Amino acid sequence: MKLDHSLVTRRTFLNTLFGGWLAAIASGGLYAFLKFVFPTAGKEPDFVVLNRADFLDIPGNTVKMFAWGGKPGFFLKRDDGTTLAVKGVCTHMECNISYQPDVKKFYCACHKGWFDDNGRNIAGPPPKPLERFDIVITGQKLVIAKKGAKVDLPKA
Ligand code: FES
Repeated sequence: MKLDHSLVTRRTFLNTLFGGWLAAIASGGLYAFLKFVFPTAGKEPDFVVLNRADFLDIPGNTVKMFAWGGKPGFFLKRDDGTTLAVKGVCTHMECNISYQPDVKKFYCACHKGWFDDNGRNIAGPPPKPLERFDIVITGQKLVIAKKGAKVDLPKA
């Protein structure tokens, strides 16, 4: 049986096809633009390799920042020489934190959240501790790694 008229006109079909093609081109361009503007967004490494002396030789009660993907990381050397590495992002709404050496705590200014020098949430709205990293010293390198991450260093 042949219909005496088409359910979709040629014009509607071609407009839909052209519109879909334009949408595909535009979304590809938008994705490329966002990757250019935010190259590390959503990417976190399993580990970072740093120069040991740059971090272990800092004075006590001091933090040194490192890049953790697109986020800050904090390496803390306490007064007693023990160390801690944490992601410098609050566990409440992901604001960047800072270290307050006068009270020996990490502080999030967004909603007044506090973390102790072990990264435990102690006051304010943060619901859980800071993300802690493993610290591995190998030769002149300091490796800071996600908990449980497999660290494959190239042979020197
Ligand atoms: S984002 Fe840090 S306390 Fe809210």
